[in-house]
Amino acid sequence: MQITLYLKNSKIAMNIIHHYTREELIGPSFWKFSDLGMVQFQNNYDQALLDTIRRKAIALKNSLSSPSCLSSSYIREPHKHIIEINELLEDKERIARLESFVGNSLEVYPLSIARCFIHFMNPNDGSLFWHSDAVPSLEIINLELSDVVGGEMQIYKGSEDEGRMELVKNGKIPEEKLLTVKPRLEYSVFGQFTRTLHRTRPIESGSRIALLIAYRSKEKPYIDDNTVWFLAADNPRMEWLDDFTQDIKSTKIPAYLRDKQLGVI
Ligand SMILES: [Fe+2]
Repeated sequence: MQITLYLKNSKIAMNIIHHYTREELIGPSFWKFSDLGMVQFQNNYDQALLDTIRRKAIALKNSLSSPSCLSSSYIREPHKHIIEINELLEDKERIARLESFVGNSLEVYPLSIARCFIHFMNPNDGSLFWHSDAVPSLEIINLELSDVVGGEMQIYKGSEDEGRMELVKNGKIPEEKLLTVKPRLEYSVFGQFTRTLHRTRPIESGSRIALLIAYRSKEKPYIDDNTVWFLAADNPRMEWLDDFTQDIKSTKIPAYLRDKQLGVI
């Protein structure tokens, strides 16, 4: 059922298709920066801008896309090759809207190699395997949905460990334990998908292209599951390690020690 949400300080009404707290999705969860689980909302983004990004992504696919740990075809750091993506990344109004969902301040993920991605999903390129996210929160913006059969986001309703054990034992997860979210043009899916088992259902026919943008909490930057080994799996030259370490020193550790002292964590 669609509902309309009127945001604080905004006259824009939005259609919301799905809205779940983190507890509703995976049960009790301590390691989080917000109570939001996920939301699917009408984004009202500039469709001409998204179409330009889509066309450039398709043109660059053969030269730039590569397999990752989680899928078979994606462009990493697309903001370095498609300058229009930076218009989205720098749009303060857009981030303010996402902040209203999580109830605290966000920033685009600082580490460039994990800031955004473009995924190509179709019967040849595959889709995203079962995983939980390493980045604290993620927005998924569809650039293309062309006669897609399959390609839905599926989230395991329970703890990641339970879900993974179910996959090990049975090789699949029963439908009743899944939240299935149909991808839509002009709508974003946004949420905290760390320690939340999910995948993109394999695509039987058609094509889906999605732009993924990562964010983190300004107040709790240490709520972040990215690790050196996970980042290195897709980025083995490790030229990003100095930026990663510097961020830990300058931002994560001071915030963590402050909150530890305050008894917040
Ligand atoms: Fe994910």
